[in-house]
Amino acid sequence: GRTVRIAPSILSADFARLAEEVSRVEKAGADWLHIDVMDGHFVPNLTVGPPIVEALRKVTTLPLDVHLMMTNPDAFIAEFAEAGADYLTVHVETCPHLHRTVQSIKERGVRAGVTLNPATPAVMLSEIVRDADLILIMSVNPGFGGQKFIPSSLQKIAEVRGLIDRTHSHALLEVDGGVKPDNADAILAAGADVLVAGSAVFSGDDYAAAITALRAGYES
Ligand code: DX5
Ligand code: ZN
Repeated sequence: GRTVRIAPSILSADFARLAEEVSRVEKAGADWLHIDVMDGHFVPNLTVGPPIVEALRKVTTLPLDVHLMMTNPDAFIAEFAEAGADYLTVHVETCPHLHRTVQSIKERGVRAGVTLNPATPAVMLSEIVRDADLILIMSVNPGFGGQKFIPSSLQKIAEVRGLIDRTHSHALLEVDGGVKPDNADAILAAGADVLVAGSAVFSGDDYAAAITALRAGYES
């Protein structure tokens, strides 16, 4: 089977103790660290920018998976790359010249991710899938942690898994929003490689148990 990667989202962490939270999830078995950048314009919330990515780069060796929920991400690619992002993921809804954006991320030695809102059809990926290093399926409307997984996302995950395989793309398939131990199996069975989990990891006390539970059904 595929290797399962778990990417805790720091959106649900205690921001006043961020380094400690990151070190706890790292010890608890996290594979990546998911960082949600929101601009108050593309999505109705504001979070963090390059200074936080740069600060986290100094305290963890986990790959930094940076999800850009912002209009005009092109203007910030250089800054996020210099801050130490390993993956930069842009929304197709914000990139009129998506191929150019993906190339500009890769030229800086960063892996390029492409993502879709729930209402955006999978076909929007057909011309970019072979250039992408990561495809992210949003299973909630982006903007907030702790929302409910949209059930129809499962079909879309399976459809995009098919697209990746058919085109021999090397892209990993990631899913973000409402991922919990009780739906992780189905999401992985539909074809996901990477699970983002915010509230499922940070809302309890035992981060290792939460991360283990997300992988459990599929890997056993
Ligand atoms: C939503 C963000 C997610 C969020 C997930 O806009 O992109 O990464 O942190 O949080 P949960 O896992 O709680 O749905
Ligand atoms: Zn995210």
